Amino acid sequence: MFRTAFKRSGMRTIQSSFIPRPLLIGGGVLATLVGGLYCFDSRSAIHEFVLCPIIRACTDAEQGHKLGIFCMKYGLVPKLLDDRTNNPKELNVNVWGKKLNNPIGVAAGLDKEGEAIDSLFDLGFSYVEIGSVTPEPQPGNPQPRFFRLSRDEAVINRYGFNSSGHWNVVARLKLRLNKLLGKFETSNSSVEEPFGNSFQNGKLLAVNLGKNKFGDEVEDYVKGVHRLGPYADVLVINVSSPNTPGLRDLQNESKLTNLLTTVVKERNALGTNALGSKPPVLVKVAPDLSEIEIESIANSAKSAKVDGIIISNTTIQRPRERLLTTDDELISQTGGLSGAPLKPLSLQALRYLRKYTKDSDLVLIGCGGISSGKDALEFGKAGATFIQLYTAFAYKGPGLPAKIRDELTLELRKEGKTWEQIIGEDDK
Ligand code: FNR
Repeated sequence: MFRTAFKRSGMRTIQSSFIPRPLLIGGGVLATLVGGLYCFDSRSAIHEFVLCPIIRACTDAEQGHKLGIFCMKYGLVPKLLDDRTNNPKELNVNVWGKKLNNPIGVAAGLDKEGEAIDSLFDLGFSYVEIGSVTPEPQPGNPQPRFFRLSRDEAVINRYGFNSSGHWNVVARLKLRLNKLLGKFETSNSSVEEPFGNSFQNGKLLAVNLGKNKFGDEVEDYVKGVHRLGPYADVLVINVSSPNTPGLRDLQNESKLTNLLTTVVKERNALGTNALGSKPPVLVKVAPDLSEIEIESIANSAKSAKVDGIIISNTTIQRPRERLLTTDDELISQTGGLSGAPLKPLSLQALRYLRKYTKDSDLVLIGCGGISSGKDALEFGKAGATFIQLYTAFAYKGPGLPAKIRDELTLELRKEGKTWEQIIGEDDK
């Protein structure tokens, strides 16, 4: 009878004759709700193991990047559902008189235009760095300029500072600030000093400044401090992207000291920003430096009195012995390599830098190939006050900050220590 019914009336008739209609509808609604909730949670495995691979299969690297930013810009991304309750105390870090909820940040280059800031905070990053932003709009290098080395969880890019320019980013940040301050005022009208250091408690927004391809090597940065400083918790002077001719030469001791001294003077001349403070100034350097060159960068940073150093940007080296990718044409693409193969280089550079900055107040920020709680811990122990990442996020998707946070908490609990206690532990 079952077979005959199936043949005659099709599956729909059988279902409706055996399962009561309200139960069917209820089940459908419940499945949609549960499925929706599952996809809405950034920790769900579907993002790393299903959605990200599908996006990679259907797009080239630049299209994938644009799609990710589009989704984050319009809130079409999952959230870390337990962000408020679940920032363990062990992960808190005090830096420049401010508190970070955890030591996990997103590096420059992902959100160049400042379009995805709040989506990134909502995923669990406590530090978001936008940029690099150049004074005038410029298109960057011709495409293709972004390549995946998927087997190595690495990428090569030669974007060359594609940027909509300072004023566009200023306009976007102003709009965001007004929205947030409006929200804050209506929900906290009784608070006398509403803005403190950062009105988004425990989270810092950094703006990374670059120079135009044919711009002035000091003036371009000074303009950035003046125009974007009022909207940033932190300013970053990027002298280490390999894709702007001559940029890395600014790491030379006399040029760097002059640039940083001028920039710090300009920062000191700013009034307090919209957040009630003046932004600390950081300089971001390359991993392709000898110990002597790193020592000279430390000297420049100390004499110019900057507040910290990010180490590192992408590498122009190709550590072939560590690469699983065999496509020689791909490996030889011009540009900066980032992701897992960069880690040994950036970690070594951080260790050198720590050696020459231990005696100072300079805050070191570790970046390069970090993709797990263990990696983050290694950078912390080598002297990083907090860490940043980009490439691993592109491969593993929106759950990565939460995963690193959980792994790091576990590692710290095993050792019975807090993040602040392990910073620079390798020296001891
Ligand atoms: C970058 N990075 C970068 N850095 C910077 O200071 N300004 C920038 O505009 C960019 N742009 C950029 C684009 C792309 C596509 C990538 C992959 C990287 C460098 C980035 O911030 C970081 O320093 C390195 O990528 C190393 O970290 P990860 O990616 O190995 O975690």
